[in-house]
Amino acid sequence: MTTTRPVTRPADAGQNADTAALEADLLDGFFDDPPTVPPRWFYDETGSLLFDQITRLDEYYPTRAEAQILRTRAAGIVGDATTVVELGAGSCEKTRVLLDELAGRGAGRWAGRDVGATDVPRPRFVPVDISAEMLAESARALATEYPGLGIEPVVGDLTALDGPLPGEPGRRLVLFLGGTVGNFTESQRAGFLSMVRGLLAPGDRFAMGFDLVKDPGRLVAAYDDARGVTAEFNLNMLDVISRTVDCHGLRRRDFRHQSVWNAGESRIEMWLRAVRDVRVEFPTLGLARTLAAGEGIRTEIARKFEPDALAAELASHGFTRPTVWRDEGRDFGMVLVVVE
Ligand code: AVI
Repeated sequence: MTTTRPVTRPADAGQNADTAALEADLLDGFFDDPPTVPPRWFYDETGSLLFDQITRLDEYYPTRAEAQILRTRAAGIVGDATTVVELGAGSCEKTRVLLDELAGRGAGRWAGRDVGATDVPRPRFVPVDISAEMLAESARALATEYPGLGIEPVVGDLTALDGPLPGEPGRRLVLFLGGTVGNFTESQRAGFLSMVRGLLAPGDRFAMGFDLVKDPGRLVAAYDDARGVTAEFNLNMLDVISRTVDCHGLRRRDFRHQSVWNAGESRIEMWLRAVRDVRVEFPTLGLARTLAAGEGIRTEIARKFEPDALAAELASHGFTRPTVWRDEGRDFGMVLVVVE
């Protein structure tokens, strides 16, 4: 599988690459109406720690709900897969319950089988992530915890993989967890699904976690918690931008966090609203923009889905026989489909 970044690189090479990538994203969206900055710029070290806190907030149900589905449906999800590929694996924390199954420790079909025996192919786990550091760390831990599994990490941008995928065609399972599919625009989602389809062969399977449409009050609160952790997460992006590119005027005190339910687009939107007129300058780009008080920068969309519509969309990309599971609270879903 193609990797998009070398596993090791000099620190300033990373900084230069980030500067160039953020400048490209700003040119792409910051001068539009409304201005947008993609959510990938939330996740510096501080942002990643804040996101970790978000996943434990009372208001933020998706992580707990998905974990419950994975716990109760692990055998059905893993099925007869011999290779599990996780796109955007991160710390691989939520995947362990599936790896137990794959390694024969779960209650499913591998249970009791000697995965070390020579007549049984050694199952493997392929975590894919853009962060080489995090991936190396989790791969090391997994190799110790799961001696019966081949752990084959791949550093790559999960939206730009071009295969081939390791593993036996027809016995592969690709996972995309966390509801991250909701953070794609409609066209990014279409591009992503056709990329995944292109990586797979008939009989391979794809499982994806997604958040369900529900009461707007709960949705807004999930992205605007009482303790202000999500507000801090959103405002941190201003620090990331100011540190990464040549920029004046993106000061925290001039913005406030806002979470809005957009019913027409079936999505939560996170905004940074200017609380007074703000002039933002990018000297290196030779560009500037004034945001009037009340104008906002859209930093994230989080699309919420109806399962039937999502299954139909997956079918249009060549994925069939959908199985949908929901958690007990019916807040979050997991769809499993088979490649035609
Ligand atoms: C990563 N992603 C699925 C989260 C979500 O729910 O859309 C990101 C997030 N943003 C604010 N809270 C959580």
